[in-house]
Amino acid sequence: MYHKEKPQFPKNFLWGASSAAWQVEGATNEDGRGVSLIDLNSQKKKPFADNSIASDHYHHYKEDVALMKECGFTSYRFSIAWPRIYPDDSGIPNKKGIEFYNNLINELVNNGIEPIVTLYHYDMPQWVDEKFDGWYGRGIIDAFDQYVRTCFKEFGDRVKYWLSINEQNMQIFYGHWLGTCKHPETWEKDQWKVNHIMNLCHAKAVIACHEMVKDGKIGPVPGMVPIYSQTGNPMDQIARLNAEEFTEKIWNDFYAHRKYSNFIKQYWKEHDIDPDIREGDQEIFNQAKIDFFGINCYRSNTAAEAKIDEPAQDYELNKYGIKGQLKFPVVPGVYKLVYNDYVQYTDWDWEIDPVAMRYVLRNMWDLYQLPMIITENGYGAHEDLDENGQINDIERINFLRDQIYQVGLAIQDGVEVLGYNPWSFTDLLSTGNGMAKRYGLVFINRTDDDLRDLARIKKASFYWYSKLIKSNGQDWGE
Ligand code: BG6
Repeated sequence: MYHKEKPQFPKNFLWGASSAAWQVEGATNEDGRGVSLIDLNSQKKKPFADNSIASDHYHHYKEDVALMKECGFTSYRFSIAWPRIYPDDSGIPNKKGIEFYNNLINELVNNGIEPIVTLYHYDMPQWVDEKFDGWYGRGIIDAFDQYVRTCFKEFGDRVKYWLSINEQNMQIFYGHWLGTCKHPETWEKDQWKVNHIMNLCHAKAVIACHEMVKDGKIGPVPGMVPIYSQTGNPMDQIARLNAEEFTEKIWNDFYAHRKYSNFIKQYWKEHDIDPDIREGDQEIFNQAKIDFFGINCYRSNTAAEAKIDEPAQDYELNKYGIKGQLKFPVVPGVYKLVYNDYVQYTDWDWEIDPVAMRYVLRNMWDLYQLPMIITENGYGAHEDLDENGQINDIERINFLRDQIYQVGLAIQDGVEVLGYNPWSFTDLLSTGNGMAKRYGLVFINRTDDDLRDLARIKKASFYWYSKLIKSNGQDWGE
């Protein structure tokens, strides 16, 4: 729909940016932090990059918050590292870990920046894995409950916006890549048990937040990739729906309605899958009413019919940022994903599609009528300082401008959006590509191989974003 006026953003809109502990903090061996599986993964698995120093935010947090203030932030989304709070199975929280997050939160609050905190962003403590078999064993449910309750008790007086588990759908869907899957041969069935356990952890976090945090609000953070149909062929439309179900809708329906949909129950029945739902589980779900959705959205996908006799193809991610390496999946009889002629692609073959942002917000609002905070969105690129020691990241400015404009249009369409927090504030380790794929508004002077001086250098996008957010979304630059 065409709107005559330019978008207006609500007063008190939360303008900020986003990060995750294991990708930005470093200091993995300091102040009593325990080992996380992601540390081991990041050291061994290429092209992951060693996270022991990352952007060294642990030691630079004051400088980083000062830069956020200078930029005009009113929010900052970050995650707490579970192994920093509970490094081992003693049941005793690590005082130094709590102190670090208290310092960070105080620094934010004192600078007028609303903290938005993710409880779990991929950093599984090694002891939880060894003792309970990680997400595979129900023992994690109480351990996670103990951890989140400690967070609510220690930080809930100042943190009002909480996010439960980052991209649970992607942790299941990309289980092999993100480390959730331990036994590839049985993952097709195991994933639903693992997912059910994650759902219980999510639900208990929602319940505990409402019990313990005065005025606290909590929501999940699905990784959203809206799916278009390749053509008007009705079979492509069904393929689109199938793709959407298996990559995101199963999860969103569950969070919002607090029960499994007929679609997934039917799938389990047909494939002889037992997700191990036990007595009492549904009672827990019934109490876990979420307050909002965090939305991570970078791109769109396009689906087409995959005939039952088409050869299957696994998703092959583009690992090195050389265009054309990604292979889209073919799931015979269900759907296939295809390239879209109407959009451009990044070096990692991610669709550059601002309209997807409006589409996702509209669609989620129609389905669930819950407010949303954009918790991730951004442009990953190869970058280094130019001869003047600067980063003139015009592509990122164009990307952000177009995406934010579409957020504004969605608001004009009647969608309730509370804030926009792109990925990321400073450069940080990309999930799979370390510093080779940068997202920040602020450059971190290091590469994967050379630590240089870890200086913070504002990119052109920092100045552009600062003007936009200080004018509450009015000054778009030329
Ligand atoms: C999101 C994750 O899926 O995408 C982040 O929550 C991640 O942790 C971001 O960094 C971008 O992905 P990547 O692989 O480019 O780092």
